[in-house]
Amino acid sequence: MDMLTTIAGLTEDLLKETYPEAQGLPAADELRNLLAVPPNPEMGDYAFPCFRLAKALRMAPPKIADALAAAWHHPETARAEALNGYLNFFLNRVNFGRDTVLAVLAADGKWGASTRGEGKTVCLDYSSINIAKRFHIGHLSTTMIGHSLKRIFDYLGYRTVGINHLGDWGTQFGKMICAYKLWGTREQVEKGGVNALEALYVRFHKEAEADPTLEDQGRAWFKRIEDGDPEALEIFNWFKELTLKDAARVYDLLGVSFDSYAGESFYIDKMEPVIQSLRDKGLLTQSEGAWVVDLTEDNMPPCLIIKKDGATIYATRDITAAVYRQDTYHFDKCLYVVAYQQDLHFRQVFRVLEKMGYPWAKDCVHVSFGMISFEGQALSTRKGTSIHLDDLLREAVDKARAIIEEKSPGLENKDEVARQVGIGAVVYADLSANRIKDIDFSWERALNFDGETGPYVQYTHARCCSVLRKAADLSLPEPDWAALSDDEAQALLRLLGRFPDVVNEAADKYEPSMVTRAVTDIAQAYNRFYYEHRILDDEPATAAARVLLTRAAREVIRTGLFLIGLEAPERM
Ligand code: ARG
Repeated sequence: MDMLTTIAGLTEDLLKETYPEAQGLPAADELRNLLAVPPNPEMGDYAFPCFRLAKALRMAPPKIADALAAAWHHPETARAEALNGYLNFFLNRVNFGRDTVLAVLAADGKWGASTRGEGKTVCLDYSSINIAKRFHIGHLSTTMIGHSLKRIFDYLGYRTVGINHLGDWGTQFGKMICAYKLWGTREQVEKGGVNALEALYVRFHKEAEADPTLEDQGRAWFKRIEDGDPEALEIFNWFKELTLKDAARVYDLLGVSFDSYAGESFYIDKMEPVIQSLRDKGLLTQSEGAWVVDLTEDNMPPCLIIKKDGATIYATRDITAAVYRQDTYHFDKCLYVVAYQQDLHFRQVFRVLEKMGYPWAKDCVHVSFGMISFEGQALSTRKGTSIHLDDLLREAVDKARAIIEEKSPGLENKDEVARQVGIGAVVYADLSANRIKDIDFSWERALNFDGETGPYVQYTHARCCSVLRKAADLSLPEPDWAALSDDEAQALLRLLGRFPDVVNEAADKYEPSMVTRAVTDIAQAYNRFYYEHRILDDEPATAAARVLLTRAAREVIRTGLFLIGLEAPERM
């Protein structure tokens, strides 16, 4: 149990003992929320504002604080003092240090893991790349936020389903086949992969300006895909295969995987009943030849379901996909990790599902995020300034390799560590800020071993490992827990103790950056502790306590890194 919960529980008992007659006193949960960490450590480790009890007790807050301080009788946990209407708690540092370290170590690498999600399912729709387009940096955030959330929910005991909702349907694929038939060859596309497909697409648009009949040919090819024409399907599936092969390289580098690749085309034969049900429920209205769901009441433009030419759209497939996911996985939550530009789309889709009478519509959540720019430059596929993710990742690994070469020339597995650190730098940068914020990626910031970066946290992990390797050669006695009473050790202990809370909150808010923040704070606190104190102290019982704290810090850093999708090298 974490310290805040412990103190809240004891405070609840204290209130009941001290004021047995009083009505409407806050219970432990509420007390836990009321307990604050004072800005100044001289005011204690936690403070309880007694003015929150003034009404229920009809007493002045300072009086209440005095009475509670006098009645408090848990010196093994904390000392309590009254000050200006606050009840300030000063932790018993020796016991707190011992209990925290032992709890973390007893969790055996799973500190903060829980069973809160038992029997519950979370679907996560993330990465969701588009066929025949290269995997560019614009898809990094959805991939990594989704991957991290999946790990976080797994850690909390949920069943998770990772879904790559491929963008594999639309008239552009007809155009692409048309371009391939006119100007491409099998060898050239096989060799050039997605690059070759993109080039064909660009050429199609250029030539179509001069020759508008190309558009008709493109449409005709798409019609052939829709009608299941074998040649069209064969080419289309081959394009898909090429794209997924290209993406697999990136996914491998990032350590990302999926449980399902059911994309837009998967829903083509499943849309009819959904459209029928929209019709039966009287939700479809005609507008300029198209069928839409009117959302005027909700202050939104209508949700287009069937276009004038009879074709369905992105939203139709998303509505169908949501129904399919509920029927198939019975999700308790379905998360869509997609950039904020699609905010309106998801609000419309969720609202339509609600109007259809699905009570689970409220469990669909758009987990949106901001834009990524690169070294101060906005990225755009159209302007040709977009960056391919595998180029970026490879460059990161090369740069990390050069730094490692310089810092630790003697390291044995430099290639492996360069991969872990280079990729880690990129992923950390992506998950370091609140997801809704736009971020600017810069090499210098991402790879700075001293800043708030992936390499810095990984380096701290390796530092802990190094201390533990040295300690393994000593035979240390029982620890003297009083040796962890100093401010630096205590600051670290508090962060370790809070870590399970952070993981829960990160899940509640769909916010991996909270874990990034926590693991960075822990690394910084460990380094402060490391610089101020000799871990392998001459006094063996002191050394023993510090070594155990180091082990606890290492476990939590490794867990935190794992939850945001980073590896934790043991030597750097
Ligand atoms: N393929 C889309 C894109 O790249 C994202 C799909 C997101 N998922 C969904 N169910 N709509 O913009």
